[in-house]
Amino acid sequence: MSSLTRIVAVPALVGAVFALLAAAAPTLQAAEEAEAIQEAAAEIPENPIEATEESVRAGLRIYGRFCRSCHGVRGDGRGQNPSPGTRPANLIDDEWVHGDSDGEIYNVIRQGVPPAYDMDAWEGRVSDEEIWHVVNFLRELAARSQ
Ligand code: HEC
Repeated sequence: MSSLTRIVAVPALVGAVFALLAAAAPTLQAAEEAEAIQEAAAEIPENPIEATEESVRAGLRIYGRFCRSCHGVRGDGRGQNPSPGTRPANLIDDEWVHGDSDGEIYNVIRQGVPPAYDMDAWEGRVSDEEIWHVVNFLRELAARSQ
């Protein structure tokens, strides 16, 4: 390589690399954003179980067994046996402190409410499918109490 070619070629190469990086940057950023959106969506799942009568009835059974003592027969948060000093949520009003989508309600039931966990995590004790039945039941209960 003559010294003249080197003088021309090196900056051209450096320029080409920068051009490539500059072109790739927005694409990378878009990809990262898309990934972040996907992750957020993955954290709030879609309800995979249709709210059939059967599902609502299954939810009622699970609710009666595990939830009623704190959240009450009507779901108004006035159960017979809450842990002392805690206030079980009203599940039939319009207020959802931890999110009002099916997926968010599902997550609260499954993962509990940190840090105190007055609302316990039910993962492992109630199956994921059963939790969806409970979500469907809570929707029905809220609709009926309007
Ligand atoms: C030992 C009592 C207790 C039991 C049993 C219990 N919960 Fe809770 N739950 C609570 C308390 C207390 C809160 C309020 C937590 C907070 O927001 O700090 C709560 C909150 C919730 C919330 C969030 C409401 C909102 O506004 O976002 C949902 C949903 C819920 N419970 C559903 C259930 C379901 C379904 C069951 C049965 C599988 C259940 N809970 C069992 C005490 C209980």
